[in-house]
Amino acid sequence: MIRYNDTIRLIAGNANKDLAQAISRQMSLPLADAHVGRFPDGEIDLKINDDVRGCDCFVLQPTCPPVNENWVELLLLLDCLRRASAGRVTAVMPYYGYARKDRKDEGRVPISAKVVANTIAQGGADRLLTLDMHAAQIQGFYDIPVDHLYAKPVLLKRIRELSIDAPVVVTPDVGGIKMARSYARALNADLAIVDKRRLSGSQITVEHMIGEVADRNVIIVDDMISTGGSITEAARIVREHGAKQIVIAVSHGVFCGPAIDRLDACPADRILVTDTIPLKGRAPRQLEIVSVAGLLAQAIKNLHESKSISLLFDE
Ligand code: R5P
Repeated sequence: MIRYNDTIRLIAGNANKDLAQAISRQMSLPLADAHVGRFPDGEIDLKINDDVRGCDCFVLQPTCPPVNENWVELLLLLDCLRRASAGRVTAVMPYYGYARKDRKDEGRVPISAKVVANTIAQGGADRLLTLDMHAAQIQGFYDIPVDHLYAKPVLLKRIRELSIDAPVVVTPDVGGIKMARSYARALNADLAIVDKRRLSGSQITVEHMIGEVADRNVIIVDDMISTGGSITEAARIVREHGAKQIVIAVSHGVFCGPAIDRLDACPADRILVTDTIPLKGRAPRQLEIVSVAGLLAQAIKNLHESKSISLLFDE
């Protein structure tokens, strides 16, 4: 059994400082005094100035782009805490990079999500706290406890505030049916499915959809927007099929490559995205950020007090 004292330490890397500050505010607990900088050659220069001996430490570091930089920062923070005799160390990764590479689907490719898991667990984390991992089965890559949160309660709260009349929940691909069904159930809404095929990392094609959206308001839900191809094609086809208001609700806004231009040009009226990833550069015109800081702060409190995490799955 891991022993830790009553002191919680929140330690933030550089990946998402705004979210770390927001969690700290929610918990009325300052971030630990830490220097996470760079040596002149670009290597990471790191020192935690607060005492962490015996403390319950939470490292706030999503592995969002630049994923390799943020991943190594996280590993060095974990190593630093382990060597400083922290009581317990939880890696808090609200966005889990490399999660889309979770199996060998062709010859001579790595299982990158497993490599991430090996390094986190062997690098000093006693637990992992994450949110809407692209593939939930990545939890099985770990032999340490993994707590997997969902952005759904936070996004649903905002969706309800919008009072969308008789919506249809749409998934942009068959892989998202489970997520879409859980939104549809919560909203007592119908479900529709877009038949997407991926041609390359940033190119997809959509020809059909299953379900009825004509003269209906639509909520398209997904775990992430990366290059924006999937979600904008879904928005295009639902509009072609007669959808009225189109709201997009997504857990992670990666927004890389042509994403912003594609979103600007797509027929969505509103795009709800959480703050697991900091927005760098211009925002799409319809963007509204919904914070998961409260959810993460509550999860950290519950972990510290050995209380249930699944309580947080409900609105
Ligand atoms: C696919 O399985 C995911 O759920 C997302 O739909 C996809 O990763 C988004 O990528 P992009 O925005 O590049 O289409």
